[in-house]
Amino acid sequence: MTLCYIVAMRAEAQPFIEEYGLELKENFFAPLPCMLYEGEVNGSRLCVVLNGAQHNSDLVGCEAASVATVKAIEAIRPDLIINSGTCGAFQSQGAEIAKVYIGNGAMFHDRRVPGDDAWATQSVGNYDVWQGSRQLAKALGMPMAKVTTGSSLDMQAIDLEIINRHGGQLKDMEGAAVAFVCSLYQVPVLFVKSVTDLCDHSADTFETFSRNLHAASQALRNANKRIIEHLTLHA
Ligand code: ADE
Repeated sequence: MTLCYIVAMRAEAQPFIEEYGLELKENFFAPLPCMLYEGEVNGSRLCVVLNGAQHNSDLVGCEAASVATVKAIEAIRPDLIINSGTCGAFQSQGAEIAKVYIGNGAMFHDRRVPGDDAWATQSVGNYDVWQGSRQLAKALGMPMAKVTTGSSLDMQAIDLEIINRHGGQLKDMEGAAVAFVCSLYQVPVLFVKSVTDLCDHSADTFETFSRNLHAASQALRNANKRIIEHLTLHA
C-alpha cells in the first residue's frame, strides 16, 4: 500500500517526517517547489509531499495544494491521499486547541457563484472523503467533523453564513482543493486536522495560530502515528 500525505507547512509535517526518518528525494518535482519525503512503514510506502515555499514562506492555500496533489497522484500513484494540517474550529461545537479530527466531508466557503443549483453545487463542492474514514475514527476514538476551505486566514460574515448553511466545522486553506483533485482522479482522501485557533473565540487569528502551531503540530504527529500504524497494519 502507498500512503501519500499532502501537507502545506513544514512545521506541520516535520514532527512525523522525523518520527519515521523519511528521506528527502531531491528535485523529485523539479522545477516545482513541491518536496517529496519518503520511507517505508510496516511494508507500506509512506510519502509526505510538502507544497514547498515561495517568497520565503511555505506555500499555503488552494492553488499550491492543487498543484501538489496533481503532481503527487501522477508521480506516486497512491492508494490513499491524506491531507494533514492545522485548522480553525468552533469552541461552541466543542473544539479545543490541539484537538485532532478526522474529516467527514469537505466544502469551500468563499466561492460564491450565483445562478442555478448546478453552479452553487460546484462552488461549494461538498466532496466525499475516503469511505474508511468513519471506521478509522471509530477504531482510534477520534472525533469527526467537516472541513471547510477558503483562501483567507480571516473569516468574513459571508464566509460564516456559508459555513453555517453547509455545516462546515474545520476551517482551513487547502482541504477542499485536495479533495477536488482527488475527486477528478478518483483517489480516496482522508483528512487529519489539528486545531490552532477558535474561530468564535480567538481575538487575533494569526497571533493565536502562531502561538499554537507547535502544540497543534505535535498533536498531529501523535495522531498520524496512530493512523499510519493502523492503516499499514490493517492493509
Ligand atoms: N489554519 C489554521 N487556522 C486557520 C483558520 N482560522 N483559517 C484558515 N486556515 C487555518
